[in-house]
Amino acid sequence: MWENTKVIRSALEEKIRTRAARVGIVGLGYVGLPLAVEFARAGFSVTGIDVSQEKARRVNAGDSYVGDVPSATLGPLVKSGKLRATVDFSAVAELDTINICVPTPLRKTKDPDMSYIVSACQQIAGHFHAGMLIILESTTYPGTTDELVLPMLSKSGLEVGRDFFLCFSPERVDPGNPKFQTANIPKVVGGCTPACTKMGGLFYSQALERVVPVGSTQVAEMVKLLENTFRMINIGLVNEMALMCDRMGIDVWEVIDAAATKPFGFMPFYPGPGLGGHCIPIDPFYLSWKTRQAGIEARFIELAGYINGQMPHFVADKVQNALNDAGKPVKGSRIHVMGVAYKRDIDDMRESPALDVMLLLKRRGAVLSYSDPYVPGLRVDGMDLESAPEESVTAADCVVIVTDHSAFDYQALVRRACLVVDTRNALKGVNSSKIVRL
Ligand SMILES: NC(=O)c1ccc[n+]([C@@H]2O[C@H](COP(=O)([O-])OP(=O)(O)OC[C@H]3O[C@@H](n4cnc5c(N)ncnc54)[C@H](O)[C@@H]3O)[C@@H](O)[C@H]2O)c1
Repeated sequence: MWENTKVIRSALEEKIRTRAARVGIVGLGYVGLPLAVEFARAGFSVTGIDVSQEKARRVNAGDSYVGDVPSATLGPLVKSGKLRATVDFSAVAELDTINICVPTPLRKTKDPDMSYIVSACQQIAGHFHAGMLIILESTTYPGTTDELVLPMLSKSGLEVGRDFFLCFSPERVDPGNPKFQTANIPKVVGGCTPACTKMGGLFYSQALERVVPVGSTQVAEMVKLLENTFRMINIGLVNEMALMCDRMGIDVWEVIDAAATKPFGFMPFYPGPGLGGHCIPIDPFYLSWKTRQAGIEARFIELAGYINGQMPHFVADKVQNALNDAGKPVKGSRIHVMGVAYKRDIDDMRESPALDVMLLLKRRGAVLSYSDPYVPGLRVDGMDLESAPEESVTAADCVVIVTDHSAFDYQALVRRACLVVDTRNALKGVNSSKIVRL
C-alpha cells in the first residue's frame, strides 16, 4: 500500500517537474483564463473547461474576452496546441491537475451560493481518477474544501493525501493592475494533508514566482477573507469619514493625502460612490455567514456593509442638492455619468455602484446618459443606454464622475460641463466653482 502511495506521489511530482502534467482549469473567467495562460506559457498542455459554449469557442479562436489577457498572447498558445477549451467534462479523465475557478456569488438572502462549486465538483467526480491534484481557487468560507469538496471526491473510494491531492489556494488577481498579475502575485496554498500542500506548492512554483505554503485548507481559505474583509472595512471607515467631513465642511481628500504622509502605521483608503466588483462587496459575507453558525456575529462586516451601501444614496443626494443649488430640479434634468464599470480601466460591471447611482437618479426623474470606453451598452433594470461620446457632457445639466477611467479627458470635461459631481477626486488640483466633490 505504502509503495503504491509513493509511486502515485512521485509519478505526479515527476510529471509536474517535467511539465508533462496535463493541466485543467475549470471556469474560464477573469481568474481562470489568466491562470490557464500562465501554465500554458510555462510549457504545460492546458485544457480549460467551461459551461459556456461561447467562451470555449472564443478561447479556441484565440479571441480573448478578459482585459488582462491580450489575444496576442492567447492566440499563439492556442495555435501551438498548448491551450484549448471545451465544455465537455469527460476531458477530466485525461488530466493530472485541476484548478477550480467558478463563481461564488451570494444568494438574495446574502447566504453563500455554493451551487457552482458543487456542480463543477460533481462533473469532475464523474471522471475522477487516482494521481490527480485538485485545487479550489474560488473564494469561499473556511471549511469548504474539507467539508464540501473532499467528501464529493472521496466517494470515489480514493484517499486524499495518498491516492489524490486536494488544496485550497486563494486567487488574488486584481484586474487591470499593470504591476501585479497572476504570475507575480504570491500564491498561498494549503492542502488537506502535508503531502497535498507540498504537491500544490510544487505545481504553482512551475508557473508563478512565489508560493506561500500554509498549514491547512482552512487557513488558506481564511487568508483571502481576511484580505478582502480588511479592504471592505477600511473602505467603510473612510466612507464614514467622508460623510462626517461632508457634514463639517472638511475636504476628506486633503485629510487622507496629509495622513498618508505618515511613514508608518497608516495606509490610505479612499471614499467613493460605493463598493463594486465580484469580491469586496461579497466575500466578507461568506465569512459572516460561517461565523454566525459558530455563534459569532461579524459586527465590523455588517457595519461596513451598511455604510458602504449608503454611498450611492449619498451620491444621489449630492447630485440632487448640486442641481437644486443651480436652480434645477432633478426631475427632468439631464445627468451624464462618466464611467460605469466598477473600477478604473476595466470593463467589469458586476456590482458596479454606478448602476445604483443611476437607478436612484432615474427614480427621481432624471434623464440619464453615460460615457464609458469599456462598456459600449447598458441594458439593466429597465435602462437601455449606449455609451455616448465624451462631448455629450456639454448638453448635461450635471455630470457625475463615478468611475475615473484614465482615458477620460478631465480638462476638457471641466471646460465643457456646467456642473460636475466628482465622486473619485478625479479632478484633484482643478479649481472651479462647477465642481462638487464627495
Ligand atoms: N474577478 C476577480 O477579480 C477575482 C479575484 C479574486 C478571486 N475571485 C474569485 O474567483 C472565482 C471566479 O471568479 P471570476 O471573476 O473568474 O468569475 P467569472 O464569472 O469571470 O468566471 C467564472 C467562469 O466559470 C464558468 N462556470 C460557471 N459554472 C461552471 C461549472 N459548473 N463548470 C465550469 N465552468 C463554470 C462561467 O461560465 C465563467 O466563465 C470567484 O470565486 C471569485 O470570487 C475573483
